Amino acid sequence: VSRLAVLDISWFTDSMREGRPVTVETRHRIQDVMEELAESSEFNESKGPCLAFRRAASVLKSLPSAVHCLEAIQGLPCLGEHTKAVMEEILTFGRSFKVEEIRCDERYQALKLFTSVFGVGPKTAEKWYRRGLRSLKEILTEPNIQLNRMQRAGFLYYSDISKAVSKAEAKALGCIIEETVHWIAPDAILALTGGFRRGKEYGHDVDFLLTMPEMGKEEGLLLHVIDRLRDQGILLYCEYQGSTFDVSKLPSWRFEDMDHFQKCFLILRLEQGQVEGERGLQSDPGDSRGWRAVRVDLVAPPVDRYAFALLGWTGSRQFGRDLRTFAYKERQMLLDNHALYDKTKKLFLPATTEEDIFAHLGLEYVEPWQRNA
Ligand code: TTP
Ligand code: MN
Ligand code: MN
Ligand code: MN
Repeated sequence: VSRLAVLDISWFTDSMREGRPVTVETRHRIQDVMEELAESSEFNESKGPCLAFRRAASVLKSLPSAVHCLEAIQGLPCLGEHTKAVMEEILTFGRSFKVEEIRCDERYQALKLFTSVFGVGPKTAEKWYRRGLRSLKEILTEPNIQLNRMQRAGFLYYSDISKAVSKAEAKALGCIIEETVHWIAPDAILALTGGFRRGKEYGHDVDFLLTMPEMGKEEGLLLHVIDRLRDQGILLYCEYQGSTFDVSKLPSWRFEDMDHFQKCFLILRLEQGQVEGERGLQSDPGDSRGWRAVRVDLVAPPVDRYAFALLGWTGSRQFGRDLRTFAYKERQMLLDNHALYDKTKKLFLPATTEEDIFAHLGLEYVEPWQRNA
């Protein structure tokens, strides 16, 4: 759907015909502008506007073609006045002055750059900005900056992990993880999640869920998998988090943060030769080492929570947000990555598959590739 939006140039040609000012800005999609405004609001800790802009981007993504007139905007659902005003500005003037201002803003530029490093969140980025730092080089050469282990890995592999991961690379990693997991436990359950499960062509990492058919066995499994990856010489970095999952806790429909399952955030070494279609290719002369670093997430929920974790980790973030809001507002149910709770019946609703969860919510099953909101 979003690809159709890019191809629709009628907006551009209409503007030309009507003699409206058409700049390069006109053609860049309103959706991109919404995403930039969302990011900028996030840096300013404006949670409400941030969500409003993300929702607007998501609504635009779902349209069969690009919006190119003011009337079309009036008919769109879920848009606030502020968001509509920005869209109208773009359609009228061919550009958004607000976004242009933000793009030139020194603070926005610095925070965007700093948070692009693995392990650097908005808080750290802000701290560095306030100390007058503006470039990655300045951070690396500033003697008083203490980087934690995660950030050191983030800088060390910066160019590799800021490069998109292709489907072929995700597939190759899937084979490695699969082989490793099943070498340790032949009956282990493994699934690809995240953007690649939704059918995306590129991602920023590759996400997997793993568990054991017997409750409790999953904990040892993840630690074993990490050891085995290290033994194979492909573990470049590992941030391990033990489980803090509490079965008695009610799910939180406003859930946004990390879930409580045992997990690890990894950087793995992927050999070019293991990626299908790369074998015969001449390697980039500037990159003759024959491997790249890739970010991989492994999550290990207990098997009775597997379906909830799969639904949550398949995303998208916006889809999850919408589904939890629907559950709460329309069904008086609390949904998160761990469980589904019926507030009316005061009951946890168990599920072994994603289909079970959609059925509990009274919704038709939504395929992963339809969850790219
Ligand atoms: P991401 O890997 O961040 O996002 P993605 O796979 O959709 O896209 P890409 O990697 O290409 O940027 O997270 C995957 C999903 O998992 C996302 O919808 C949010 C969810 N998630 C959680 O539920 N809990 C978490 O702790 C994290 C980090 C992600
Ligand atoms: Mn991902
Ligand atoms: Mn991401
Ligand atoms: Mn991830």
